[in-house]
Amino acid sequence: MKHQDIIQKMTIEEKAAFLSGKGEWDSRDISRLGIPSVFCSDGPHGIRKQAGAGDHLGLNESLPATCFPTAAAIANSWNPELGKEIGEALGREALALNVQVLLGPGLNIKRSPLCGRNFEYFSEDPFLTGKMAAAYIQGIQSQGIYACPKHFAVNSQELRRMAMNAVVDERTLREIYLTGFEIAVKEGRAKAIMSSYNQVNGIYANENQHLLQEILRKEWGFDGIVVTDWGGSNDHVKGVKAGSNLEMPAPGLDSARQIAAAVEEGSLTREELDTCVDQLLDAVLELRENSKIKRESFEQKEHHCLARKAAAESAVLLKNRDHILPLKPGCKVAVIGDFAKEPRYQGAGSSVVNPTFVETIEKVIPGYDLRVAGVVGGYRRSGEADEALKKEALDLAAGADVVLYCFGLDELSESEGLDRTHMRIPQNQIELLQALLQVNENIVGILSAGAAIEMPWQTCCKAILHGYLSGQAGAGALLDILAGKVNPSGRLAESYPLRYEDTPAFRHFPSTERNSEYRESIYVGYRYYDTSMVRVQYPFGYGLSYTEFLYSDLKVNTDGITAKITNAGDRDGAEVVQMYVGLPNAIVFRPAKELKGFAKIFLKAGESKEVRIPFDDKTFRYWNVKTNRWEVEMGTYKIMVGASVSDIRLEGEIEVEGTTTAYPYNPQEMPYYYTGIVQQISDKEFETLLGESIPDGRWGGELTANDAICQMYYAKSRIARFIYNRLTSIKKKSEEKGKPNLNILFIYNMPFRALAKMTAGAVSMDMVEGIVEVVNGHFVKGMGKVIGGFFQNRKANKVYEKKLSGGKGAEE
Ligand code: BGC
Repeated sequence: MKHQDIIQKMTIEEKAAFLSGKGEWDSRDISRLGIPSVFCSDGPHGIRKQAGAGDHLGLNESLPATCFPTAAAIANSWNPELGKEIGEALGREALALNVQVLLGPGLNIKRSPLCGRNFEYFSEDPFLTGKMAAAYIQGIQSQGIYACPKHFAVNSQELRRMAMNAVVDERTLREIYLTGFEIAVKEGRAKAIMSSYNQVNGIYANENQHLLQEILRKEWGFDGIVVTDWGGSNDHVKGVKAGSNLEMPAPGLDSARQIAAAVEEGSLTREELDTCVDQLLDAVLELRENSKIKRESFEQKEHHCLARKAAAESAVLLKNRDHILPLKPGCKVAVIGDFAKEPRYQGAGSSVVNPTFVETIEKVIPGYDLRVAGVVGGYRRSGEADEALKKEALDLAAGADVVLYCFGLDELSESEGLDRTHMRIPQNQIELLQALLQVNENIVGILSAGAAIEMPWQTCCKAILHGYLSGQAGAGALLDILAGKVNPSGRLAESYPLRYEDTPAFRHFPSTERNSEYRESIYVGYRYYDTSMVRVQYPFGYGLSYTEFLYSDLKVNTDGITAKITNAGDRDGAEVVQMYVGLPNAIVFRPAKELKGFAKIFLKAGESKEVRIPFDDKTFRYWNVKTNRWEVEMGTYKIMVGASVSDIRLEGEIEVEGTTTAYPYNPQEMPYYYTGIVQQISDKEFETLLGESIPDGRWGGELTANDAICQMYYAKSRIARFIYNRLTSIKKKSEEKGKPNLNILFIYNMPFRALAKMTAGAVSMDMVEGIVEVVNGHFVKGMGKVIGGFFQNRKANKVYEKKLSGGKGAEE
């Protein structure tokens, strides 16, 4: 133990209490021993530090901070250096706002385009995800702040996120859902990590020995702290046993009592407890030292400029017919769309930032060499038809050279706590687009959306520039591209399927019962479309430039590749060179191509440069479920270098010696996994992949403390069903108003046990058991437990608090 001197002075009550939060955002201090508390804040693309009372979904406004583009946008830059710069800026702001642990970046894999939090995550690809996350982490931590990458692991669905069990085979877990975290931990050297709400193969992530001990700490060498997601702890005795250090936010002293009791009775050893305490002590003491470097404020203007540069580097030009872009100087533009006046620049939920300043296209456009015919809303954001707005837009469009049409997903579509139900943008926006085409064929679409959408209307636009959720300085960044000041260099970090029905997990996402079955296995995103040859609208890695790049002279060496890239156009620009690897006729099934390296390279007009992309330990590996380790299959690997997964410009080969002697699969038993056609995997084939039977995830019988509040439609008690109906109707009403009600969404998806985990000691787990009995129709017995539990809890809290404040009688 590093801090044996302090640990031996701590009482068992102090140790147990130290492992859970004191309030919404801070850990518990122990003043008699000089142990400080640390302050955590969201989040991934800007600091959300609440000035007044904290509530974790941001109902109370937070202090002004720079709102950078969200992770989904920045991933399109394919530029880890940019991620690092943003990380450094986030770190500086955290320092100025007295935040010590920054709850981000978020790096869950985009299993389905519908996950409501995709805007907060980087990619469908683990390699790109990991590289970007590692860069953010290095940047944040360079300022003495702890980054806390999240949510570890397999948290790719919002519906019942706290009560969902991800059923996933070990190979898919390792290759797809953990590789990003592995890179974040090993290369980013993350000092904290947030465990996810869900279960992974029947065990809560926060109690999962396999995830937290075997993989995170032993295999990857993580020596930082594990923090639970807010209200995500199920049983903190099990959490501590698995190496989870800090239960957040404020479970009161109930968890502490359980930990202390577990040590007394021997189900948790003193060593296990002390190890967790030691790790947390190490963190809080280091953070106290770091926060001695005070920063009074941060450079708002400089950070705004960085946000603008980042947005410009991340926007993706999807289409540019007749070279309509860049706009000719002096051309007469009609600016149409509500988003031009009120931009959609960030998502909803715990990541919401109170920006220092927000640019809008309407306000910024006069600064460009363009003649602005007018700026009108054109459609209602809420989706209702409005003929007057439409007519105004059509009149304006008719007299302009070019229409700049600002549209995309509205606020309600993308939020924490909510998965989308389809991939469309509101119909009224499409109807306006179609009508605009009748009066002006020069339409440039400017999209704002944090996740992939269906684009059957894309033929109406001559050009489409996708800004994603581009942060507070997005408007200027997009105009810089439209006007030709910046040459676009963003490339999609996720595939755009033609239709939602084409997505690999479409039959299993989101799971409506307890289990979410990851039947599509490793075929996530382009790994599926590319292997099983499903046409997409825009492939992974795709994006246009105002110049043209030529690829030549590929050399494949034992340690990587080199290739010559030439800017053959007349404008300076940057290209994202992507390296994919495949093994034709592999014995172990695998996708046709997998991203294993990339480089962003800037070239002046006419310039050529040699780019080098190294191989690493991940280039040829696969997870062998038979030997339970990373292995390499022997063979002649194809090395494919190109501008997207579907635009391979150069191909080479390399012979690789393998390590595999025991092959994991029998191809006869897994015909569909061998073809990559995975939308309809049978139970039998999935079981073969899992190596065991599919767990039963149906509800039957009674609800438990771990079931979500929204499952009260199964409740026997009429009162419970009444409450369920009320909640559902409040949720629906808020949806009709066009803004998600985050509190309702949180409550809706939260399990009963969270009542005890987030109420600062007012509710105990015994009381929760009583509430669940009531829900199940055992009113008298349940209420007895609630009332009895209330008094017992109050008394036990007082006794414990007294012991804490006394602090006498150190344990040893
Ligand atoms: C989210 C986390 C966030 C935490 C604190 C949770 O609901 O899942 O990402 O950091 O709240 O706001």
